[in-house]
Amino acid sequence: MTDSLIRKAAADFEAKFGYAPTGVWSAPGRVNLIGEHTDYNQGYVFPFAINRHTFAAIALREDNLVRVGSSFSPTLHEVPLDSITRDDKNDWAAYPFGVAWAIAKLSEVAGSGFDCYIESDVPVGAGLSSSAAIECAVGVALNELWNAGLDKKTLAKAGQLAENEIVGAPTGIMDQSASLLGEADHGVFLDCRNLESQVIDLGFAKAGLELLIIDTKVAHRHADGGYASRRAACEAGAAAMGVSSLRELNESNLPKAHDLLDNTTFRRVRHVITENQRVLDTVRTLREQGPGAIGALLYASHESMRDDFEISVDELDTAVETAMRHGAFGARMTGGGFGGAAIALAPTERISEISLSVIAEFEALGFAKPEIFAVSAGPGARREI
Ligand code: GLA
Repeated sequence: MTDSLIRKAAADFEAKFGYAPTGVWSAPGRVNLIGEHTDYNQGYVFPFAINRHTFAAIALREDNLVRVGSSFSPTLHEVPLDSITRDDKNDWAAYPFGVAWAIAKLSEVAGSGFDCYIESDVPVGAGLSSSAAIECAVGVALNELWNAGLDKKTLAKAGQLAENEIVGAPTGIMDQSASLLGEADHGVFLDCRNLESQVIDLGFAKAGLELLIIDTKVAHRHADGGYASRRAACEAGAAAMGVSSLRELNESNLPKAHDLLDNTTFRRVRHVITENQRVLDTVRTLREQGPGAIGALLYASHESMRDDFEISVDELDTAVETAMRHGAFGARMTGGGFGGAAIALAPTERISEISLSVIAEFEALGFAKPEIFAVSAGPGARREI
């Protein structure tokens, strides 16, 4: 699959632009194992890069025009490099445009324009960061072709800046960090306060476990209101508690938060505080007892998002509960919420029972047919050819 998409990206580039690309770069989507809505609160996250990728075939131009095409849209989007702004007409091209704009800004190089053609097998709208995969594939390519010299942390910031300023989604830094820093069979344990990271052996295969993605097909967009309102509630909660971010608080501060905050803000804050602790507990449990022991933490994370942060939907809850009833050790919604995917960690021999049961339950409830597949942890963004 990977090899054929690399060749296809190069061939489709040539068909579109009439000459061969300089190279093809790739970046993976990510799944977040645990640590949700903690990144923009300067907290902990523990995602991994998955074995689904975006491929960007690219060549520099002599003028300053940027042209981007893709296999998922017939439109060729173009803009002069120095005129990139937030604009609804950009559509998905806001991701490659945004990252070009951000790399130029952060590195201060005077990059030239470029042509770019994108192929991807990261499902869109499933909470697997198809957008960060585009940003990171184009990001590593331009970093190399422009000699911009940015390290991976700064490239992750470029992706986040692109989302915040050019796409208009107030997202954190987790997705780009996972896509850039991932390693085969390892999770990326990231402290979003200082961007220090450690890769940690997940050991799923050795323990006879699989991580299933249950894509509910309920579409979500983080440029819409729900994500931003959760972020605003966290910022208001931190301000009321007199700290610069919720990362400065821990469970011992909950009684004071309860006294000081209105009920909704308190529950938003409690989610972030307890979720940070769950990330630390997951990393420790994984190291000390192995992946079979982290299930209860995953499920507790789901309950917190459902009840305190209120970002789950019926389809996600159904996926999680059904997976748990049919043998998953742990399950939770993953990503920003309001749709997208749930994950379930389960013994290999229970995978088909879980998948069939979730499909049957969705059908019985009149939900759209979910897409269910296993993912493994793979390497981060790189040049392919
Ligand atoms: C989206 C954002 C991330 C993060 C998650 C929630 O994926 O892009 O920055 O905030 O939601 O954990």
